[in-house]
Amino acid sequence: MHVHVGRVALFFCKKRGKVQSRTGQQSAEGTEKMNCQNVRKRKKQNANTKKNKKLKRKDEAQMNALTVKELRKNYREHTAVDGISFAVKEGEFFAFLGENGAGKSTTINMLCTILEKTEGQVTVFDKELGKEDDEIRQKIGIVFQNSVLDGKLSVKENLYTRGAYYGLSKKAVREKLKPFMKRFELEAIWNRSYEKLSGGQRRRVDIIRALLNDPKILFLDEPTTGLDPMSRKIVWDYIEYLRKEKKMTIFLTTHYMEEVRDADHVIVLDKGRIVADDTPVGLKNKYTHTKLLWYTDRSGERDELVRCFDHSYEADHYIVKMPGEESFCITDFLSVNRDAIKDYEIIKGSMDDVFLNLTGRKMGE
Ligand SMILES: Nc1ncnc2c1ncn2[C@@H]1O[C@H](COP(=O)(O)OP(=O)(O)O)[C@@H](O)[C@H]1O
Ligand SMILES: [Mg+2]
Repeated sequence: MHVHVGRVALFFCKKRGKVQSRTGQQSAEGTEKMNCQNVRKRKKQNANTKKNKKLKRKDEAQMNALTVKELRKNYREHTAVDGISFAVKEGEFFAFLGENGAGKSTTINMLCTILEKTEGQVTVFDKELGKEDDEIRQKIGIVFQNSVLDGKLSVKENLYTRGAYYGLSKKAVREKLKPFMKRFELEAIWNRSYEKLSGGQRRRVDIIRALLNDPKILFLDEPTTGLDPMSRKIVWDYIEYLRKEKKMTIFLTTHYMEEVRDADHVIVLDKGRIVADDTPVGLKNKYTHTKLLWYTDRSGERDELVRCFDHSYEADHYIVKMPGEESFCITDFLSVNRDAIKDYEIIKGSMDDVFLNLTGRKMGE
C-alpha cells in the first residue's frame, strides 16, 4: 500500500500559485473549479486517450510473439481452460496471475507443445501450434513448475545432456554458459548432483537449461514459488536482465501479487477464464479505489468535488473514496483547496484489491 503524505506537494502548490496537473490541464485558484461535471469531462478525455492507445496496439498486432484464440482444455468433464483469447507482444513482460488451480500450468503446457489442446488456435512467432510444433520448440524456453532435470546427474551432466538435445557439443555448452557462470554462481555447483542443491540453486539451473537454445520467448511457470527471499531476488534479478538486456519476451505465471507489479501486461485467470487483461496500472485504475484523506478544520463545509464521490468526515479529516480511474482529480482538488488543507494522504489501491474486486475473494481464500 502506498501512502503519500502531501506537505511537499502543498508547498509546491503555494509557491507556484499555479500547478500543472498530471493530465496536463492547468488549475489554480480562480481557474476552472473541479466539479462533478468537470470530472466526467476529464474522464471522457482519458477514455479517448486510452482508445487511441488501443488503436495503436491494433497496428502493432503483427509484432505478436504469441496469439491465442479460444483456447480450451478439458480433462474429461472438467474444463481447466475455458476458451481464453489473448496476445503477447514481442519483448513484452507478460504475467499470468491466478490462484492454484486457475489453469496457468495447463495453458503454459499447451502453448509449449507439451499438452494437447482440446480446442483453439495458437501461433507462436507465426508458427501454428499443432502443425509446426518442432519449429515452435526451437523458439521457446520453458522453466516448468516442477523441474524436469535428473536429480542423480550433476549440474554439468544435466546441462550437457540438454545441450546435446539441441545439437550442442560439451564445448559449445560451456561457451554458451560462460556469461551465466558468474551471474548465477554456477562454478561452485557445477559438479554437484542436482538433487543435492538448494531450492534456489535448482531454480537457477532450471532457468539456464531453458536458455540453451537461445529462445525468443521464455515461459516461467511459478519460478519463485517456495524459494527463500534471497533466492527469489536472484531469480528475479535474472529475469529482469533477460528482459532488459536481452530483450527476451517473458511469459510468467505467478500467484504472488507483487510479482506482476512491473509487468507490461497482466492477465488475471480465475477458474480457467480470463477475468481481466490490462497493464498493472490499468487494473488498479479499473478495479480499485484511491482514498484521499483531507485534513482540514473546514468541517461542515463540503467542497463540491468531495460531494461527487463517496465520502465521510471523521474528527479532523474527510475520507474521499474515488474510483482509481478518477483519482486524477486529486491534484486539482488539492490545488484549488490549498488554503483549507492542513495535510493530506493519498492511499492507492493495491493488486490485492484488484483480485478481491474481480473475484469477490482474497487471493488464496
Ligand atoms: N492431468 C490432469 N487431469 C485432470 N485434471 C487436471 C490435470 N491437471 C490439472 N488439472 C485440473 O485443472 C485445473 C487447472 O490446473 P492447473 O493448470 O495446474 O492450475 P494452476 O497451474 O493455475 O495451479 C485444476 O482444477 C486441476 O485440478
Ligand atoms: Mg501451476
